[in-house]
Amino acid sequence: METPVYDFLVDYAEKNGLRAHMPGHKGKAPDERLSELFRLDITEIAGADSLFEADGIIAQSERNTAALYGSAASAFSAGGSTLCIQAMLAIMKMEGRRIIAARNVHRAFLNAAALLGLDVEWVLPHYSGGILSGELALTDVEEALAASDKPACFYVTSPDYTGRLADIAGLAEVCRRHGARLIVDGAHGAHLAFFEKNLHPIALGADTCCDSFHKMLPALTGAAVLHTFREEYAPLLKQAMSLFGSTSPSYLIMASLDLCNRYIAENIRDDIARALTQIAELKGSFAGRLLFAEGDPFHITVRAAESGFCGTELAALLRSSGVECEYADDELLILLLAPFSEAGDFRRLRTALESAVAGASPREKKNGSISVKLPRMACTIREAAFSASEEIAVEAAEGRICASVKVPCPPAVPIAVSGEIIDRDCIEIFRQYGIKTVLVVRER
Ligand SMILES: Cc1ncc(COP(=O)(O)O)c(C=O)c1O
Repeated sequence: METPVYDFLVDYAEKNGLRAHMPGHKGKAPDERLSELFRLDITEIAGADSLFEADGIIAQSERNTAALYGSAASAFSAGGSTLCIQAMLAIMKMEGRRIIAARNVHRAFLNAAALLGLDVEWVLPHYSGGILSGELALTDVEEALAASDKPACFYVTSPDYTGRLADIAGLAEVCRRHGARLIVDGAHGAHLAFFEKNLHPIALGADTCCDSFHKMLPALTGAAVLHTFREEYAPLLKQAMSLFGSTSPSYLIMASLDLCNRYIAENIRDDIARALTQIAELKGSFAGRLLFAEGDPFHITVRAAESGFCGTELAALLRSSGVECEYADDELLILLLAPFSEAGDFRRLRTALESAVAGASPREKKNGSISVKLPRMACTIREAAFSASEEIAVEAAEGRICASVKVPCPPAVPIAVSGEIIDRDCIEIFRQYGIKTVLVVRER
């Protein structure tokens, strides 16, 4: 597959012309180790196209991505899925739709809701293993959509942080019945289109979906794509993204998206087939000792507490063997591999996990189910997010209004949302996640 953006950068660097244009580094790195990157880093010069008004090499590369994903249009983002989420929600605002969302959203969603002044109606998943993940009942979604007095959209994160996949086909059907749009935060799922059975939200009936290519594919951090299934949204993708995105999107990031097209077209299916065998072998070798969460196979999520271990202890032991995990808490250990991971990586992980399990102190097995209630709302997300705020100890926060979602990333799933009144249950969950302070609206 052609790589027009990458090819342009290489050609331009090889011409070795005088760069009487931005950026100020002029193609030279202040540190030798970064020299190739700086040589290829350019801005919107003649022939380089322009992301938000693309009709040249960027548009050509985006069409390649759309063909690979079977979307009506796919737009590049150099601002991660965060920018795509802002754009998806902006389009829903343009259509005057009510936003109904599964609660385990990433904070990028909440920030976008604050910026756009959106009110959100929540559907609570039936959580298990903490607040990161839960089973979403289609009946709960149907009920929320049926009760809406205006056109709505349903927003869901799938895969979620632990790799759990929502029933996108089922949700799409429910949304269709109610004239609602299905919007998917697929930040963790760029590879899903290339399994033997296509599991990508766009193939399963979502209206729009974002993928952080940088999370699951060989792309630079910040590389993401916003896809839509609807022809009428195609021109809106860029219009909405340009409201929030930098006017100087990184060409290195865009070139890495461009190169992903070739990787997908030529290699990903073989890589996935090989990796799936290795993941199955890895999990099989821990049968009877470790429980793994279901969902996307590349999220190797150990249900540590239910297996009789502490996730953070396993993570520390892995670190001492040179393996850094994606995330760990008392309940879970998330190990994130990718189609691009090499055969040796899986073997190395298996050996390190063996030694971590052997070295960890066993605990009483604990069922990770958690019951979460929605806190009461005192004001809108936007009002709270843009109020004067102060940071106080979680213990002193009972009854105070949450100003901003100050949760570490990862996993960045909210316990209380801006505008909600922090109650005892929230405080208990903050404590469980080791969060010691919270931003609250300053009282007058
Ligand atoms: C579920 C989810 N959605 C959205 C985001 C934001 O994506 P990005 O970092 O590509 O902007 C993240 C980042 O971790 C995420 O985990």
